[in-house]
Formats: sequence, C-alpha cells, structure tokens
Amino acid sequence: MAQIWPIGGGKGGSGKSFLTSSLGRLSAGMGKRTLVIDLDLGAANLHTLVGVPSPPKGFSDFIRKRIVRLEDTVVETPFENLFLISGAKDNFDIANLSYEQKIKTLRAITKLDYDPILLDLGAGTSFNTLDFFLISQHGIFITTPEPTSIENVYRLIRSIYFRQIRYCFTAGDFKALEEAVQEQFGDGAFNKPECMIKVIAQAYPEKYKQLQDEFNAFRFKLIINQVRKHDNAALGMQMSRMIEKHLGLNIEFAGNVAYDDHVHDAICQQVSFLDRYPCTKTASDLHAVGKQVVQNAGQQLMFQYM
Ligand SMILES: Nc1ncnc2c1ncn2[C@@H]1O[C@H](COP(=O)(O)OP(=O)(O)O)[C@@H](O)[C@H]1O
Ligand SMILES: [Mg+2]
Repeated sequence: MAQIWPIGGGKGGSGKSFLTSSLGRLSAGMGKRTLVIDLDLGAANLHTLVGVPSPPKGFSDFIRKRIVRLEDTVVETPFENLFLISGAKDNFDIANLSYEQKIKTLRAITKLDYDPILLDLGAGTSFNTLDFFLISQHGIFITTPEPTSIENVYRLIRSIYFRQIRYCFTAGDFKALEEAVQEQFGDGAFNKPECMIKVIAQAYPEKYKQLQDEFNAFRFKLIINQVRKHDNAALGMQMSRMIEKHLGLNIEFAGNVAYDDHVHDAICQQVSFLDRYPCTKTASDLHAVGKQVVQNAGQQLMFQYM
C-alpha cells in the first residue's frame, strides 16, 4: 500500500509547498515513483516549484468531472520519477469541497499507483483539511520558529486531535459528551482536550481505549523550517514534549531546515533548490529531514470512510 504523507501547517508562507516539492524531489531521486498533489486550491503554486509552469490539467478537472479518473489528471515533471496533480486553475477553497466530492477524492487518492504520495495541504483548519490530513498516520507538520506560526500549527494539531475524537462518536453521543464535559469542568471546557479525554475515560472506557490505540498509531512528524542562526535550535524538541504532555500525542521532531536566501533565488529562477544549491546547509538539512520521513516503515491508512 502506498505511503501517503499529508503536509500541513497552520500558517501560509511557512514552507509547506517548498518542503513538499523538496521531499518529493528527494524521494523521486531515490528511485521511488513519487506523486505530489497540490490541495492548497486557493493558493496553488506547487506546479511552479516542481518545474511545471503551466500544467495542462489538474485536480479541478476531476472535481468538475471533465476527467473521470483522478489518475488521468497526473502530469509529468522534468524530474525522473516525480509526478504532479496540480491545483492550479481552481478558484475554490478545499473547505468548499462538498462531502461527496471529499469522499470521492479521498477514495481516489488511496487508489493511485504511486508511492509515496505527498499532499500539500495549505493553511487553515477546515474540516476538509483535517480529513485530508487524517487520510494516513504519517502526517507532517511544518512551522517556522515565529510565535505566530507555532500558535497556528499548535491549533492545527489540536483540531486534528479533536477531529479524531469526533470520528469515534455518533453525532448524538458527541453532543452528550460535550454536555458532560461542560457540566464537569464548566463553560467552554469542551474545547480543552485534557478535559474531554478525562470524561471519555470515565464515561466511555471502550472509546477511550480505542482512541488511545488510534493516537498511539500516529506517526506524525514535525519540521521547523526557515531556522535562522540565532533561533532556538531546540524548539522542535520542546514543542514535541509539550504536545506529548498536553495531548498525550507523540509527534516526532524530524529536524530543522535552515533559512537560506537561495531558496528565494531558486524559486525566482524557477529551478529546483536542491539541484541548484546542493552544497548549502539548507540542502543538507532537507536531506536529513527527508531521510527521517522516508524511514517510516509500513502504514495503515486512516481514512475513515472506506
Ligand atoms: N528554508 C527556507 N529558507 C528561506 N526561505 C524559505 C525557506 N522555506 C520557504 N522559504 C520562503 O518562504 C516562501 C513561502 O514558502 P511556501 O513553501 O510557498 O509556503 P506555504 O506553502 O507554506 O505557504 C517561499 O517562497 C520562500 O521564499
Ligand atoms: Mg503553499
């Protein structure tokens, strides 16, 4: 079964697309038939980063039913083994995909004959974004060291945590759970995962066990991008520990990627950063992070609607 790596981050500009294209490029360079999918439909630009300035077709053709099979929207890139489903030409947000379109897309992605498949998810915490992130256990979170970016990625992680809890319950049971949390811990407490999980442990022991198993099965990773010399190099480890402490979620810190102005230069020249500037610290960081991510052995799909 293909590995699927959804790549998310709370904030635009943190480097999700740059990292998707770089990890895709590295994976393809290892001889893996790699597919990158641009699901940041409102701000699609992955095509430019993988050297396809004007993709002839893309994801919108599948959504608009101009192309029946998702695999037929795939285009080649100039790089051997690297393929793209472009998000260009779409003028809607992923948040606006209907339930049916989302299910159809999630199903179609799991059936694509590429391995790995990388999803560039774009910013935000819409239900659709969360559901695409939860398509596999191998999601990757990206943030920069800036507090605003950290805040947003933390919000995304909490939203994913809540979404996973929500999947476990019927609508009626979830409502009852929210009320029980409110009653025990006061107004607004149903927003606090530590309160919610306590009530689940008391009132729904079987669901609690199921959730613990699901959370333990996650192999999420965290990458800190655009790290400058004076930034706190230990931030990733600290975030990972904090998330473990508050949510009981194990998110492995996969490494820092240094800030380098050459990234801007490569994007402006429309060339691959890794190929044009292979001897930079940023390139060696990308290789190290890529190795961490690729090392993921086997996985089960998470997709809840199969
Ligand atoms: N490691 C880095 N060093 C320097 N600049 C970077 C780095 N990563 C990303 N950038 C810059 O940040 C911009 C936004 O990156 P992008 O991948 O498009 O973000 P996102 O997809 O998260 O919105 C890029 O155009 C690039 O100029
Ligand atoms: Mg992007």
